[in-house]
Amino acid sequence: MCAYNSETNWISRPTAFTLTPLPKLPMSTTPRPVHTSVLPAETLAWLDPQPGQTWVDCTVGSGGHTRLLAERVAPTGRVLGLDQDPAMLELARQQCAELPIVWIHANFDQLSDILIRHGLAQVDGVFADLGFCSDQLACAERGFSFRDDGPLDMRLDPTQATTAAELVNTLSEAALADVFWEYGEERYSRRVARRIVERRRAKPFTTTQELAELVRQCVPRSGTIDPATRVFQALRIAVNDELGCLERLLAVLPRVVRPGGKVGIISFHSLEDRRVKQAFRTPGVWQPLTPKPVQATAEEIQRNPRARSAKLRVAQRWTDV
Ligand SMILES: C[S@@+](CC[C@H](N)C(=O)[O-])C[C@H]1O[C@@H](n2cnc3c(N)ncnc32)[C@H](O)[C@@H]1O
Repeated sequence: MCAYNSETNWISRPTAFTLTPLPKLPMSTTPRPVHTSVLPAETLAWLDPQPGQTWVDCTVGSGGHTRLLAERVAPTGRVLGLDQDPAMLELARQQCAELPIVWIHANFDQLSDILIRHGLAQVDGVFADLGFCSDQLACAERGFSFRDDGPLDMRLDPTQATTAAELVNTLSEAALADVFWEYGEERYSRRVARRIVERRRAKPFTTTQELAELVRQCVPRSGTIDPATRVFQALRIAVNDELGCLERLLAVLPRVVRPGGKVGIISFHSLEDRRVKQAFRTPGVWQPLTPKPVQATAEEIQRNPRARSAKLRVAQRWTDV
């Protein structure tokens, strides 16, 4: 079942199981994506999708990897393209007309239900390129950037309830320090948490610059890295429950990938990569195809600095035959 309707410009929303008009978001008018896909050639070489196959791209983003997968499986195969950000889905859709892609606004931690809704028990392969896109970072209204002023939001799915401002203004000092330490490895986590709690008594945080300025006053600068980097990363991971979503995806993959099928996951920090590495080492379930994570060449990093921390791991679903 192809839920995308090109006449009405609607995209399936499997959580509601109805066709939902896309919300009007600032990015949906952006003509071209700013995001550059990481490790495109390596991803395609390791996953090696074949004509007629069915693949899932869990993280469509600006559609770069989705397009590569869809071109390979076309014309008889298809790609189910998921993203929890409807603005990214719309942007990607504009880049991938004519390709056999079903666009689905959903969190990838719902993958099993989504496949059932689309009449599928198993697929030939699943791909995920974790985190967020340059387009989301570049849109100040989304609140991901510590450089531009915007609302302290950071939700990848704008229909979700909890924002970064809510966490910053309501979590206890100890809980804030834990978030900054566990998800950002911020050495000054306690100091930042204490100062946040002191400051919010007078005035709750509403903008990215209010928070970034406070962090810059607490954390000494080291090299060229902005002192607010780790706190912003930690908050984004917490707001979107990024590690919880990854764990739920990893848990469901053995059921939804057919024997002999493949999974490829690109991660951007050790908290993610550790989880992927451990899951792919489960004997009798996965056979890791990449003994070491695949990383970008110096040339790609020069072209696309975001690729410097990307790690691709690929595994094949175990088969006895
Ligand atoms: C790094 S970008 C993907 C870039 C994409 N591969 C490309 O080539 O343009 C990550 C995307 O995944 C989405 N995303 C992150 N976590 C998600 C989740 N749990 N479920 C669905 N989408 C998610 C983000 O909204 C973002 O658009």
